[in-house]
Amino acid sequence: MDPHYSNVGDCRLVELPQIRNSAGNLTALNGGQDIPFPIARVYYIYDVPGGSVRGGHAHRDLLQIIISLSGSFEVVLDDGKTKKTISLNKPNIGLLVCPGIWRDLQNFSSGSVCLVLASLPYFEADYIRDYNKFLEWKF
Ligand code: TYD
Repeated sequence: MDPHYSNVGDCRLVELPQIRNSAGNLTALNGGQDIPFPIARVYYIYDVPGGSVRGGHAHRDLLQIIISLSGSFEVVLDDGKTKKTISLNKPNIGLLVCPGIWRDLQNFSSGSVCLVLASLPYFEADYIRDYNKFLEWKF
């Protein structure tokens, strides 16, 4: 997919496998099988002060799956024309965010933990952190 033409409709929720038993649940994620890309990097966001907004950028090439491991938060997706707010609050649901989509993460509940599975290593040149530059790049 050309990230210049990606839109919020290309982002989708992915149901992650759950192994359930009376002692609790377990989710195992195999890159390329349970999620649609090989996993190059994992990071997680936690201890977010109330009212903080994170994200505030788009990626040129990176694909991500964003998961709420605990608590809840919202992801606002923006393709430059349309915005869509997705609430995440289940550890077995991931949000696939395509390249070329601006995202903000907001309304973190107290104690929430956000897990991100990324298709590429960290590479600052892949980020677009200025919204006007994002719009110029997109259109
Ligand atoms: P940033 O991507 O801006 O965080 P968020 O999108 O969650 O608000 O990253 C915050 C800081 O962490 C920034 O200085 C870059 C650094 N960082 C790494 O060093 N490696 C990583 O894999 C990530 C995601 C960020």
